[in-house]
Amino acid sequence: MDWGMQNRMARLIRGDGHCFFLAMDHGYFLGPTHRLEKPGQVVTPLLPYVDAVFVTRGVLRSAFDPAMDKPIILRVSGGTSIVGANLANEGITTSIQEILRLNVSAVGLSVFVGSEYEHQTLMNLAGLVNECEAYGIPVMAVTAVGKELEKRDARYLSMACRICAELGARTVKTYWCEDFDKVVESCPVPVVIAGGPKTDDDLSVLNFVYDGMQCGAAGVNLGRNVWQHKNPPAMAQALRAIIHEGATPKQANEIILAAAQA
Ligand code: 5RP
Repeated sequence: MDWGMQNRMARLIRGDGHCFFLAMDHGYFLGPTHRLEKPGQVVTPLLPYVDAVFVTRGVLRSAFDPAMDKPIILRVSGGTSIVGANLANEGITTSIQEILRLNVSAVGLSVFVGSEYEHQTLMNLAGLVNECEAYGIPVMAVTAVGKELEKRDARYLSMACRICAELGARTVKTYWCEDFDKVVESCPVPVVIAGGPKTDDDLSVLNFVYDGMQCGAAGVNLGRNVWQHKNPPAMAQALRAIIHEGATPKQANEIILAAAQA
């Protein structure tokens, strides 16, 4: 691994081998997502607690301070919407020149293994790896399932993650599931846990993140359960405590409860 690639990876996955990525890319297919209408205002109070932000070029350019000192993972796949025919029909939206111009630390794209667009999205990954590796930019593959949420079991996710790693992804983002250790153990690159729809049960989020970390995940890439939370900085601190400080779900939840008392 060349110095540039090592440097970018080290900024994303910290010295303890763990990472907390804040996902804010949802608008690329959802439009103005609830509580993410003003992404520049949303991100500012959360920056002290996260290791990187996952975002599109449009939001980066229009809403983020160029002087910010936080690694950016650029969402570079898209071309679909939640009201369109098929969420899996993605292409690569962003050129390598644009990726370099924006000085990002990594790029991320979705692949839809088992879908009608499996070949297209896996070739998106392979092509992006070819271009990004030439410049030392890591690619994060996102194992997406579109609306077919029932696909999220260890057998399917292990297969999808392994295929992404085989095609050259430097890290893979996937859903937490029962027997998550099987997913992590069969994937030769760091695995990052994706989130999911907002739940009002904080402990359920803290529990699956804790379990994922115990199973060997490198960290998380969470969005809605952070910035749709009633106290986003408290939730971010609680997650950080699990990811980087070895807190249990109960200890992490106490951070949220204490913030509510203050
Ligand atoms: C959207 C994504 C998101 O980054 C990912 O789903 C994480 O966000 P959330 O925790 O809100 O699910 O890839 O396509």
